[in-house]
Amino acid sequence: MKSLRKAVISGTGISLPQKVVTNFDLEKMVDTTDEWIFTRTGIKERRMLSEGETMLDLSIPACKQAIENAGLKPEDIDLIIFATFSPDYQVPSTACMLQDRLGCTRAAAFDLQAACTGFVYASSVASQFIATGVYNNILVVGGDVTTRILDFTDRNSCVLFGDGVGATVFSPGSADEGAFDVILGAIGSGAEYIMIPNGGSASRPTLETIQNREHYLKINGKEVFKFSTKIVGDMIEDLLQRNNLTLDDVALIIPHQANIRILESAAKRFNCPLDKFYFNIQRYGNTVAASIPIAMHEALQEGRIKQGDIILIVGFGGGLTYGIMPFRWGSYTTPRV
Ligand SMILES: CC(C)(COP(=O)(O)OP(=O)(O)OC[C@H]1O[C@@H](n2cnc3c(N)ncnc32)[C@H](O)[C@@H]1OP(=O)(O)O)[C@@H](O)C(=O)NCCC(=O)NCCS
Repeated sequence: MKSLRKAVISGTGISLPQKVVTNFDLEKMVDTTDEWIFTRTGIKERRMLSEGETMLDLSIPACKQAIENAGLKPEDIDLIIFATFSPDYQVPSTACMLQDRLGCTRAAAFDLQAACTGFVYASSVASQFIATGVYNNILVVGGDVTTRILDFTDRNSCVLFGDGVGATVFSPGSADEGAFDVILGAIGSGAEYIMIPNGGSASRPTLETIQNREHYLKINGKEVFKFSTKIVGDMIEDLLQRNNLTLDDVALIIPHQANIRILESAAKRFNCPLDKFYFNIQRYGNTVAASIPIAMHEALQEGRIKQGDIILIVGFGGGLTYGIMPFRWGSYTTPRV
């Protein structure tokens, strides 16, 4: 990407449902405890979409805020990429409905599915379009409403996730700022570790599949945990090495918020202070594709990212997929709420 245009993040916005579900609320639904959930994951509470609301509804304020923070109007957006694994519908894409609701009349639009790595994958696609000069302003959204596809009788999964949307605008930057590398990967042999067995074209819903609760998200937490603890460390190491950087050069790591213990183990491997990682998992749980852009927006609001800083976004999850992208941060440092 050296001779091509660099992509900067020029605006961010977030949107979280009003309804808060605490670990104590979950104690009343499944055989679990606040103590178990908090010590195993770091989660205290999460947000849940209310009946009658959709992810599209939830996305609108986040996207408007990101476009406004970028100093743009909806019609300036050339492309919308919506990373999600819980779209409102299989068809049409959430991105197309969003294009209409926002009035982004010039924008092309598509959804991208890479589960918890969705925002990193989508960011890399946006950066390529900017690098080649095809597009200037790209709305990259990470949104998931996993509570709509969770089985609230399955304590292995239902305590881990929450709903939310994070939106960003990618725009061209100068040569010394913006995204300067990317590593993406997939380990398809682990596909079954995070899966909704029924409802796709491979297996149509029947009364029996519904009774067996096959239309809900199933996870093999132990296998995903093993994969994640290794891949986070491997990605950071590879990225630093191939860019001749050390951890001291990095101001902040914004990881996918799946489990605080995954990140503690990555930090330990590098002898890295834990406060180099940004966390908000305690308040939102795992918001899948939304977790990195929500964390990025909040880190900016808290003044944790300054112009010129090197920051890393790190994703991992269903597919299995993984990805890391470094940015030398541009001038956008203070989102308007
Ligand atoms: C799920 C996760 C928190 C479990 O942590 P863990 O350290 O592996 O769990 P432990 O081995 O200490 O405990 C597992 C036991 O707790 C039980 N358990 C599972 N969920 C529970 C809950 N909500 N409350 C109480 N007990 C629970 C299990 O039944 C199991 O019992 P068993 O040993 O009798 O079979 C962890 O593996 C994880 O975060 N994995 C990744 C999650 C994921 O896939 N995220 C999505 C993609 S990023």
